[in-house]
Parts: sequence; structure tokens; C-alpha cells
Amino acid sequence: MPEAPKLSRRLFFGGALAGAGAAGAAAGALAAGALRRGPDIVKVPGEQRRFVGQSVMITGATSGIGRAAALAFAAEGARVSFCGRREHLGTGLQAEIAATGGEAVYIRADVRDPESVTNFIARSLEHFGPPDIAFNNAGISASQPFHETRLEDWNDIQDTNVRGVFLCMQAQIPLMRENGGGTILVTSSANAEGARPGLVAYNASKRALVGLVQTAALEYAADNIRINALCPGATDTPMIRRQSGMENAPDAVWQAGVGVWAQSNVHALGRVASAEEMARAALSLCAPEMTYLTGSAVFVDGGMTAAL
Ligand SMILES: NC(=O)c1ccc[n+]([C@@H]2O[C@H](COP(=O)([O-])OP(=O)(O)OC[C@H]3O[C@@H](n4cnc5c(N)ncnc54)[C@H](OP(=O)(O)O)[C@@H]3O)[C@@H](O)[C@H]2O)c1
Repeated sequence: MPEAPKLSRRLFFGGALAGAGAAGAAAGALAAGALRRGPDIVKVPGEQRRFVGQSVMITGATSGIGRAAALAFAAEGARVSFCGRREHLGTGLQAEIAATGGEAVYIRADVRDPESVTNFIARSLEHFGPPDIAFNNAGISASQPFHETRLEDWNDIQDTNVRGVFLCMQAQIPLMRENGGGTILVTSSANAEGARPGLVAYNASKRALVGLVQTAALEYAADNIRINALCPGATDTPMIRRQSGMENAPDAVWQAGVGVWAQSNVHALGRVASAEEMARAALSLCAPEMTYLTGSAVFVDGGMTAAL
């Protein structure tokens, strides 16, 4: 049996994990097979081909939800340009998509930097033309008590999560207007609705994105541009492992700990999402049949906010 997780005093998703017996409970639940699991196969990637030939830009695709979305869009026939700062991960994903017969290009970019965003958009255009779909997903978080949050951390989170999306959309919207329309999806969070302690900068940034998305949706509906926010609940990516101080824990230990946490925090489904599940939600919101969806914040959170 894997070692019991040492979680009791850690900040978990920004809130103190309830109960000092969490480690023992996690180990027990794991042994008893009591933790809830997601469906093994929901849909085979590439089974549907909803995005054939479409130009899709994704920010923050070197990891987590963005990475899974790049793979899923490419599997459905899209031509994907994507960014992130870590080059080895970006070139690795580009090769992985090429190996499956998909089309994708990695362009290194830092969404906090206007010049870098301009370069990302310009090089995406050279490769695949104006974006039919933009998934502005790059984001960071940091867990600190409000009064200990340093200004530089506050600024870094706002610059990445809010200003980065603003910069990308300012470049993408004129291209979509000229091209007759498009779809923009921004990754906000369930934290836009229900705050968690210890995440002041993150919670504020994700709520700000809803205002940004709603304003843009109203301004550009007449240009045939749909603009929405995806608000994920807890999703198993490197971000939440880091945030929980568990990035180096063995996978089985992490799964046990997060499973116990989810049973009391993800009120309906009682489990966290996989990155692939969240990517499928992103693709569905961008799909051509979603013609009436704009200006919405769509919560894909396993029932987490339903119980607030
Ligand atoms: N996981 C969750 O439970 C959860 C819940 C709600 C919302 N979200 C949101 O989902 C989005 C994706 O997060 P994730 O969970 O997939 O986390 P992740 O695995 O850490 O991925 C974050 C991605 O953003 C990129 N990124 C960060 N800063 C960047 C910058 N300055 N310029 C360009 N790219 C940057 C990272 O790439 P580099 O580090 O290579 O730059 C990485 O590809 C975020 O907006 C996050 O807030 C996640």
C-alpha cells in the first residue's frame, strides 16, 4: 500500500485541509477502494472531427488543461498554434501531436509581455492564418494569506491571468472581425463564484475575467464573435499539485489525498476532474453547434459551486 499522504497541515487549494486525520483517512479509503473515479472512456479522442482545418490558438498549453486541449483539438482536425514559456515542453508536445498525424506549432511566448504576445499572434498567423478559435487559458496561482501576499506576487498573478488575456484578445478580436467571426474561450475558475481562503490574488483575477468576457461578448456579438469563460472546478494538473505542496509526491499518494479532499469539497461528483475531461468541456463550448452561447461563465466543476 502506498505511504499515507502527509496533508494535515498543508494548504490545500488555498484552504486548510479539514481534519488532522486526513492522512489516515486517505490511506484507508485508498485501501478500501472507496474513492470515486471518473469514467475510463468517455469518448475516443478524434472520434468526432468538429474542427477540421480550423485555426486554433491556445495559450498555456505546455501543461495541464491547455496541453490536453491542444491534443484534443488536433485530434479533431484543427491546426493548433500554442504557447507557454517552457520550450522543452512545447517542442515535446508539438512532436507528440505530429506523431499522431495532427498539425500543431509551438511558439514560445510569455503572456505578461506585450511584445511576446504580438510575436505569438504574428507567427500563428503565418502558420495557420487568422484564428477561428482562441482558447486563452494560461494562468498561475499562489497560495498565501491575504496580509502576506506580496505586491510582486499580486502583480504577477494579475499580469498573467488578466492582463495576459486582455493582451491576447486585443490582438485576436481585430483578426476575427476581419475574418467574419470566431470563438474565444477564456479559462476562469470556479473560484470566480466561490472564493477559497489563501488565494486572494487568484480569486480576484478569475472573477475579473468574467467581467472582461461579458464586456467583450456584448461588444463583438455583432461581429459574429462568441466569447465565453470556462470555469473549471478542481482539475488534476500540475497547478493543483504545486498549490497543495504535493508536486513531488508519488502519484498514488497524491490520488489518495486528493480523492479524500474531493469527497467533502466537490459536492456532487465527489472527485476532481482530469485535464482531459476539462479539455473536452473546452472543445464543446467552442464547437460550431454552440451558436447561442456567448457572454457566459460556464461552471464545469462536478457540482462544487452548486452547493455554495
Ligand atoms: N487545475 C485546476 O484545478 C484549475 C481550476 C480552475 C481553473 N484553472 C485554470 O486553468 C488554467 C490552466 O491551468 P492548469 O491547471 O492546466 O495549470 P498548469 O498545468 O500549471 O498549466 C498552466 C499553463 O499556463 C502556462 N503559463 C503560465 N504562465 C504563463 C505565461 N506568463 N505565459 C505563457 N504561458 C504561461 C504554463 O506554461 P509555462 O509554465 O510553460 O509558461 C502552463 O502551460 C489556468 O488559467 C488555471 O487558473 C485550473
